[in-house]
Amino acid sequence: MTSPAPARDTSWPPPGIIIAPSLLAADFARLGDETADVAAAGADWLHLDIMDGHFVPNISFGPAVLKALRGRSGLPFDVHLMIAPADPYIAAFAEAGADHIIVHAEAGPHLHRSMQLIRSMGKRAGVALNPGTPAEAAAAVLDLADLVLVMTVNPGFGGQAFLHDQLAKIAQVRAMIGSRAIALEVDGGITPDTAHLAVQAGAGALVAGTAVFAAPDRAAAIAAMRGPAAGRASQGHA
Ligand code: DX5
Ligand code: ZN
Repeated sequence: MTSPAPARDTSWPPPGIIIAPSLLAADFARLGDETADVAAAGADWLHLDIMDGHFVPNISFGPAVLKALRGRSGLPFDVHLMIAPADPYIAAFAEAGADHIIVHAEAGPHLHRSMQLIRSMGKRAGVALNPGTPAEAAAAVLDLADLVLVMTVNPGFGGQAFLHDQLAKIAQVRAMIGSRAIALEVDGGITPDTAHLAVQAGAGALVAGTAVFAAPDRAAAIAAMRGPAAGRASQGHA
């Protein structure tokens, strides 16, 4: 199955600050409506957190949920695999409609193979780094990477506090990326307050669960995290 093409971004990484609401903080009884709602509120990507109760101490949802939502949204699906092993499930997520598939550097001994596999399926490949993992863990796969995801909480749960000690690593990854066409994404504890710290350190894409889904005005929350410079908030990207 092919995903709907991203509506706006003709270059990679996309210009401006990307906001990717994490569905983990949505009302799970209304996932289709929640997806449409954040798209209308100005989300750029939809972040889908896949947890296996093994790599992380929580279980979320799998490819069947992705597939069901794929028919409801044209947003790029940014799929964050917190599962080990990841490789046996990559095809299922690709076929279900993922646009980006992100694997953890810590999830297995064959990160390079995982990235090759994602690319071979025509999807954008990402590598995620836990807070306890150094930036260098991504270095050997940068030529296969479309995204690097720096975790600013320990993965497994939404609603945790931003780990400020990860800001130096964001800057380090930004320097490592150099002129490569790689999006630098940050995930965990992003709020309007921490968003600008992450962006100052070099982030170009921000995942936000609680700060979007629990906000009384989701469009305002997304605009606040994107910052005043982007100037495209509230346009509604369904
Ligand atoms: C954590 C997930 C995050 C999480 C972010 O394991 O990877 O994407 O949903 O949630 P907030 O924004 O609430 O920290
Ligand atoms: Zn995530």
